[in-house]
Amino acid sequence: MSAIRREALLAWYDANKRDLPWRRSRDPYAVWVSEIMLQQTQVATVIPYYERWMRRFPTVQALAVAAEPDVLSVWQGLGYYRRCRMLLQGAKWAVEHGIPQSAAEWIKAPGVGRYTASAIASISQGEPVAVVDGNVERVFARYAGCDFAGPPLTRAAWAWAERQVPPDRPGDWNQAMMELGATVCKPREPLCGACPLAVDCFASRESAQGRLPVVSAKPKTIHVKHAARVHFVDGRFGLEQIPRGEWWEGMWRFPIGEGDPIGVVRHTVTRHRIALSVSISTQSAPAGLQWYSLEELKHLPMPSPQRRALKLAVEYLAQGQRLLDFERAETLLDGVDVGG
Ligand code: ADE
Repeated sequence: MSAIRREALLAWYDANKRDLPWRRSRDPYAVWVSEIMLQQTQVATVIPYYERWMRRFPTVQALAVAAEPDVLSVWQGLGYYRRCRMLLQGAKWAVEHGIPQSAAEWIKAPGVGRYTASAIASISQGEPVAVVDGNVERVFARYAGCDFAGPPLTRAAWAWAERQVPPDRPGDWNQAMMELGATVCKPREPLCGACPLAVDCFASRESAQGRLPVVSAKPKTIHVKHAARVHFVDGRFGLEQIPRGEWWEGMWRFPIGEGDPIGVVRHTVTRHRIALSVSISTQSAPAGLQWYSLEELKHLPMPSPQRRALKLAVEYLAQGQRLLDFERAETLLDGVDVGG
């Protein structure tokens, strides 16, 4: 394999890089937040969350003193809430220990793994360390003609990437690799005509884009059925806090309970497909619930499927039985993420 055309990739990046809010700052904290949000979530989804987050918690000090429910409520809708809790823990740690100055130090922070440590150190501190995400793995597999999958591919991609990082522009280089994977070397229908690396690329030369990277066996989907009972009494909704050890611990949900369903909310978490059946009760309610108005619920951290259950219930209550003023309810739910 000939040496990678670094200048060509960097020139391509300079000309084509997307204007993203976190690229306007070299503040390690800002890069940290963006890289945590970008794990498992697409750029377009992250942008508004990132902007809201940085307005609310502009510095690591501001985040470190925030209460977990406030932090979760800004994150709510992005999913994978462990990332958010770990970011809060990480901020407290960084305020206590000082902001890390290298990838080797970053990796000691709670919630920061090899990917995040290298991303922050290279992008914000100029350390020549490589970053490999799914995009870079795909670029590597195609470029080098690597025909294995899973952890061996990941290991090979890291080893390869570490050899490529240019000492003068490591952050731009890493972002260029990720950007190339996201916008040109796409999983399907890659745009080899626009790729600065195509001349040296195995897959492009051999027309092997469709079979590289090879796919490993898919983990089996697990179907899960849940039932949410929306108790609505005297204009308030009854909720409970999700206990420790369960998904979304510390956030709020409707209690589990059966009744005539008014609808089903579908949601995917990793390989679990959740079908949440929603029913309504306007009479008796179990003890131990906490009661909130719709207005208060707007700021209560709730998992996305629970929030969609709330939306279903509000629509039902407003239209069917006129128990709620529908227009007011719509306004209140407006701007609250109820997406999957
Ligand atoms: N994906 C995750 N982090 C990224 C970054 N900094 N640039 C492009 N894509 C990314």
